[in-house]
Amino acid sequence: MDFIAQDVISKFDALYAEEPLIIRAPGRINLIGEHTDYNDGFVMPAAIDKEIVFAIAPSPDETSSIYSLSYSEFFYPNLKEPAPVTAPKWANYLLGVMRQLVDNGHTLKPFRCVFGGNIPAGSGLSSSAALETGFAFALNELNKLNIPTQKMIHMAQWAEHNYVGVKCGIMDQFASMMGADNKVILLDCRSLEYKYSPLKLDNYSIVLCNTGVKHSLVDSEYNTRRAECEQGVAILQRHYPEVKSLRDVTPEMVDKHKSEMPGKVYQRCFYVTSEIKRVQAAAFDLTNDDLEAFGRKMYETHEGLSSLYEVSCPELDFLVGQAKNAQILGSRMMGGGFGGCTINIVPNQQVESFISSATAAYKKAFNLDLIAYIVHVKSGTGLLKKSEKSAVGS
Ligand code: GLA
Repeated sequence: MDFIAQDVISKFDALYAEEPLIIRAPGRINLIGEHTDYNDGFVMPAAIDKEIVFAIAPSPDETSSIYSLSYSEFFYPNLKEPAPVTAPKWANYLLGVMRQLVDNGHTLKPFRCVFGGNIPAGSGLSSSAALETGFAFALNELNKLNIPTQKMIHMAQWAEHNYVGVKCGIMDQFASMMGADNKVILLDCRSLEYKYSPLKLDNYSIVLCNTGVKHSLVDSEYNTRRAECEQGVAILQRHYPEVKSLRDVTPEMVDKHKSEMPGKVYQRCFYVTSEIKRVQAAAFDLTNDDLEAFGRKMYETHEGLSSLYEVSCPELDFLVGQAKNAQILGSRMMGGGFGGCTINIVPNQQVESFISSATAAYKKAFNLDLIAYIVHVKSGTGLLKKSEKSAVGS
């Protein structure tokens, strides 16, 4: 049993007298479609049962305050001029959202907010997107702004680009906002058209293996990958003026113009165009209940991310190798890379033995403690009803 919502509410009650609104914003997994979102491709994320919970109420005076339960720290934002700060870092995710609201002409009432969560930071489960979408949702509710959901998703992404410095795609914020119980989202990142597909796992579980590492390269390399993809597009546009992004390109087209591209640019473009195709094929596997074919594609994705896109690391490669040795259906690194988690589709009867053998092997190889989670697919960001407050995360 997890008491995130209760912890947040208890803290709010201890600090303030008002009755707060309670908002839950989940982290996400991504079954397949990695580094495709900012190339206008397809992704297959889902919101999970790890979340950030916010308690928020109007302030009785002109002072606004935000309290982070995880850092046991207050921050007092300036609602009229929410500029980025050097510390605390966590405030910037929220300040970026406020900046967007102000720049879109909204006036924010002073408020008091307490938040806390159980999404491990740096694990590739998008705690930052949850922070942004949850806060956008909370301020929208509190101020009765009626902002369309898609607009809030874009505001959250803007915060990540401009106040955090990662030029991320739309997947994380979209999944955190739009997730649905037991459903994965098939999202076209170009049009933002999406479809929910039931996740019929039956005898399988989704197991995340957290490497516990976050290599410092992560943000700068992410932006470099994005720039390399754009470089590839510029080269291809000389031959195909209609090409707007790698979504409009096939692996064959990339191959044909290989000699015109710097080696790394070729590798990045070949991976992304192959992955965009793979996600479409994987969507068929899912509808046909062919989890084995789906799992094979997860391994292919990992191979591409590791050897062509070069966003994996020894710890992630090792854990995918462990899964392969144990003949786990599907396994791959998930999210931006350079650390974080692998996602594994594991037969229920093998979950325990897989986790214990991977944990032992990981300790032996890296002297690090592996943390494994069995995750469930849950709904996206929303208001919690009173009766639900104690059940969050359990
Ligand atoms: C991070 C970004 C996403 C996406 C993934 C890689 O999670 O925030 O937009 O690009 O990496 O697929």
